[in-house]
Amino acid sequence: MIKFTTEDKFIVTGASSGLGQGVALLLNKLGATVIGIARNHERLAETKQKSEHPENFFTEELDVTADIDGLPGYVKSLREKYGKFRGMAICHGITDVTPTQMLTYDNIKHVFDCDYFAPIMLAKGFVDRRNNIGRGAALVAISSYGALSCNRGMSNYAGAKSALIASMRCIAKEVVPFGIRVNTVSPSDIKTPMVLSNEFSTVRGADHEKHYPLGYGEVEDVANMVVFLLSDDAKWITTQNYIIDCGVGL
Ligand SMILES: NC(=O)c1ccc[n+]([C@@H]2O[C@H](COP(=O)([O-])OP(=O)(O)OC[C@H]3O[C@@H](n4cnc5c(N)ncnc54)[C@H](OP(=O)(O)O)[C@@H]3O)[C@@H](O)[C@H]2O)c1
Repeated sequence: MIKFTTEDKFIVTGASSGLGQGVALLLNKLGATVIGIARNHERLAETKQKSEHPENFFTEELDVTADIDGLPGYVKSLREKYGKFRGMAICHGITDVTPTQMLTYDNIKHVFDCDYFAPIMLAKGFVDRRNNIGRGAALVAISSYGALSCNRGMSNYAGAKSALIASMRCIAKEVVPFGIRVNTVSPSDIKTPMVLSNEFSTVRGADHEKHYPLGYGEVEDVANMVVFLLSDDAKWITTQNYIIDCGVGL
């Protein structure tokens, strides 16, 4: 069974909701110290309230798109505040459904800022050897099965999420000599506020879940995989992208 100590410190973005919240709560339950990042004060506070060890759960409010160039410096400031990090889970993100004829550069940039540029600059901060513990450190970023499938209106989101997988694999190659592992996870539809939103069911259709032989996934289905990849149980696994879609291949 995976166990951490309070000396194992993890940054989790998107900790106020959905997959990020699930990852943050599981790491904390297993004994780790968690620094949960998101914009919404109330939802971050609710996550901390739900945590099994709130004394080891810290929250930081940040819009990761506000100063993307400054994100490596932001990670450094967290290291000065909390100490060196054992891991980072990049779980924040937004979705986008825009038909090609409606796309604008601003719209594309908005999605890429959040789902690609910010994750890359956060990764830059984390893999800086001054900010992590070295051998045994691990980074996991959540991409999406949408990066690998083709769906109408998804060119923007799919572009950002596939770019994320490609760049994380290259970063993984750069840092493996230092014992740092980097992987991505690509879920299909998981029951989070993002997927349960009216906007999503309008686009996909109310009965979309019937295509999944095991139904939509639960947050824990992704959180378990992310936490495994962050742990020493995955000490020989790096540069990979794991699809979690109950085999449906949509
Ligand atoms: N759910 C799925 O089925 C599914 C499938 C494939 C991939 N994914 C990916 O998984 C990730 C999480 O999705 P989810 O379903 O958990 O969504 P969610 O429930 O909507 O949560 C999104 C999280 O991202 C944070 N966030 C968004 N924009 C941010 C910003 N500019 N700065 C800081 N934090 C920001 C939100 O926090 P605040 O609003 O508090 O800032 C929230 O904590 C996303 O990257 C998504 O693309 C999800």
